Amino acid sequence: RRSAGALSTAPARSADQAQAERLRAALASTVPGADGGLAFVLPAGFSSPELEDLGVPATTEPLVLEAPADVVETLASPFGKRLAAASGAPYTGPHAVAAGREWVDCTLLPCIALTYDDGPSRHTARLLDELRASHAAATFYVLGESASKLPGLVRRAVQEGHEVGSHTWSHPSLPRLSVRGIRAQLDRTHRLLRTLTGKPVTTFRPPYGLYNARVLRAARLPAILWSVDTRDWEGPSSRKLFASAVREATPGGIVLFHDTKPRSVRLAPAIIRALHRRGFTLVTITQLFNGDVPARGAYRSAN
Ligand code: NI
Repeated sequence: RRSAGALSTAPARSADQAQAERLRAALASTVPGADGGLAFVLPAGFSSPELEDLGVPATTEPLVLEAPADVVETLASPFGKRLAAASGAPYTGPHAVAAGREWVDCTLLPCIALTYDDGPSRHTARLLDELRASHAAATFYVLGESASKLPGLVRRAVQEGHEVGSHTWSHPSLPRLSVRGIRAQLDRTHRLLRTLTGKPVTTFRPPYGLYNARVLRAARLPAILWSVDTRDWEGPSSRKLFASAVREATPGGIVLFHDTKPRSVRLAPAIIRALHRRGFTLVTITQLFNGDVPARGAYRSAN
């Protein structure tokens, strides 16, 4: 209009239906441009009553127009302004990939693994709900005996990206058993878990954290212990349980809970939120070791 010599910005008359449609199409094509501005495409055939009066022909091809951020700022609706302010903020909506299946580099990020022992139990389903809602991964050291009674929960845990390890069939103190007894406790459990999850068991947790060289040799798997013991089996207050889980957490650490304890399950969302706020990424045991758990030995953390 300026180059056609127009001196006024007042509209001569309203645009006709066809032009209004083109404007609508242009607005619908709007995408975020560089530096907080917006870009949109004006379709071919665009004109306006003023331009027609000035003898300017309609456009013959689509025009890409960019509105810089300061112009957008003055024109945007309240919703548009909210949208612009939120751009670049971390995503907090639903996730397409389960937390345990996301690739995480624990050499760069402060990772921590939450582990739950002695299940599955009647509280495990709620824990799985909470983990899913919090987009957090965990590792379950299950008892073969319990898994045989609640197989659906073991399957569900794996389907939702969590890891399942072995905690023996019936929770004996392994150093007190013969090599044959140790193998029987583990082999029976591993056969069941393999059938349920479709994956071989890759780590085990000795009951009570008790092991010796003979146990490790017989197990032929790495023993995963813990760096933070919440002592949730002793029935601490919620405050004490929360404090030990959150304050004692360190990068590469492993936190011990029991999904047989309703308080540990109830507090899971608050603990996960607090760990996230401290900057931790919650991962499975395998992720904690960057996908490469050492084949032998006993570990209290990934460090
Ligand atoms: Ni146990």
